[in-house]
Amino acid sequence: MKVLFVCLGNICRSPTAEAIFRKHFDRRKIKAQFDSAGTASYHVGERSDSRSIQHAKARGYAMTHITRQVSATDFNEFDLIFAMDKSNLENLKRVCPEPKLLKKLYLILGSNEVPDPYYGNPDAFEEVIDLLEGAIEPVVDQFFR
Ligand code: 4NP
Repeated sequence: MKVLFVCLGNICRSPTAEAIFRKHFDRRKIKAQFDSAGTASYHVGERSDSRSIQHAKARGYAMTHITRQVSATDFNEFDLIFAMDKSNLENLKRVCPEPKLLKKLYLILGSNEVPDPYYGNPDAFEEVIDLLEGAIEPVVDQFFR
């Protein structure tokens, strides 16, 4: 299984998701590959936001992703594509090249959203990690059993 996480900038939420899921799936010996991308191109080629990297590191997650923008070919390459919020989900629907590939697309928290921490305080970055850790079990249950 190849899994893609998508947010707006691909510097905060989705690379954090990638690092968290990779670690927990490795630990549980569930085979999957993880990547992340942004719907926007502002930060392409950059490392993740230093605040995200620091908060993740303090909680045992290594973030090494280089920012990239999502593309139509991602819908062919990946089996599952998880949007962090409803706005990302709407943007992804517009990128999707074929209606039948829309079935790969989900909100990572079901009907809830991972709020954008970019203009937030340190608590916002911790909340991103809390919410994404909470998403692991439901994702395993729904897609990996
Ligand atoms: P992300 O957060 O979508 O979680 O990576 C953002 C990062 C950058 C911007 C917005 C959101 N920005 O406007 O540059």
